[in-house]
Amino acid sequence: MIKFLDLKKQYLEIKKEIDKAIFNVIEESAFVGGKFVKNFEEDFGEYLGIRNVIGVGNGTDAIEVALWALDLPKNSEVLVPANTFIATAEAVSRNGLKVKFVDCNKYYQINPESIEENITPNTSAIIAVHLYGHPANMKKIGAIAKKYNLKVIEDCAQAHGAEIENVKVGNFSDVATFSFYPGKNLGAYGDGGAVVTNDDVLAKKIRMYVNHGRDTKYVHAFEGRNSRLDGIQAAILSVKLKYLDKWIERRNYIAKEYLKKIKNPLIELPKVVNNIRHAWHLFVIKVENREKFIEYMKKNGIQTGIHYPIALPKLKAYKYLNQDCSNFKACREDRFLVSLPIGEHLKEEEINKIIKVVNSYKG
Ligand SMILES: Cc1ncc(COP(=O)(O)O)c(C=O)c1O
Repeated sequence: MIKFLDLKKQYLEIKKEIDKAIFNVIEESAFVGGKFVKNFEEDFGEYLGIRNVIGVGNGTDAIEVALWALDLPKNSEVLVPANTFIATAEAVSRNGLKVKFVDCNKYYQINPESIEENITPNTSAIIAVHLYGHPANMKKIGAIAKKYNLKVIEDCAQAHGAEIENVKVGNFSDVATFSFYPGKNLGAYGDGGAVVTNDDVLAKKIRMYVNHGRDTKYVHAFEGRNSRLDGIQAAILSVKLKYLDKWIERRNYIAKEYLKKIKNPLIELPKVVNNIRHAWHLFVIKVENREKFIEYMKKNGIQTGIHYPIALPKLKAYKYLNQDCSNFKACREDRFLVSLPIGEHLKEEEINKIIKVVNSYKG
């Protein structure tokens, strides 16, 4: 079976370094906070070209914390793409803010036109998700935010290392967030996340908030919360960060092969904007009869994924919003989406097999 994701294989390739990193943390008992977290925060900041990186418990917390830090008016509306993982929207509701869904464009990224159509006097912020590792149109989103005086958050959970005109995502907003969930391009061996910003004042506030609002131990300036990256995860991430660019290059190579060699009228390939570096976290195609295609791939020994099977506005969880999104591209096309395997775990013959099998699909 060609796996959709193979974290064991990745581990075995860097086992020596990972085992040593974990051992060092245990040896020093630097389990929460401490030098391993600090080192990773500095390394990741340098990688992104961003001054402040604050490790947190996971990518969902990261968005929640980012929204909290922006101090948006209670009950104001935050624009969220209709096609993303639910975490992006959950973080809005959990801050006492209102989710307002917006549609995607042909790249499956948040659509700037839909953003503008959905702005009301009660809108306070936009969350741009760089879905699948493809950067959202931050130039247009930035211009809209300026025009309507809105805050912008980038959800970079799927886009570590992605770039717009040679600048890493995370640099195009007031505050940006990352997830280090194991399956991400840069994944820990458990949950992890980060909030990043060039705003030093905001960064200081966030750092205190995620550590019980404290200045120093037992001296608390305000009530915060507990959401911290732990030492073992940070040490693992420091090792994996060194390989991230190589892995992204490999993803780009595989995507290029797919884009060049998959030629099947029943398959619609993903579209890519110029002047970006795609992180290719996911390679999402469109196919009419998804269930049949997935079954066919499985029979031929290839695992696939779906990102995401049901657009957020159609979920029971968001019925209460009563937002009619039936004309959204995101809501009409969710049932056609299928993700092909992509990642450094794929061997050349596996890539060729995937291409061959997809090309032989007859519907
Ligand atoms: C787009 C997006 N946002 C947020 C998250 C939440 O991250 P986490 O699972 O680390 O909480 C994820 C990943 O799961 C995601 O894909």
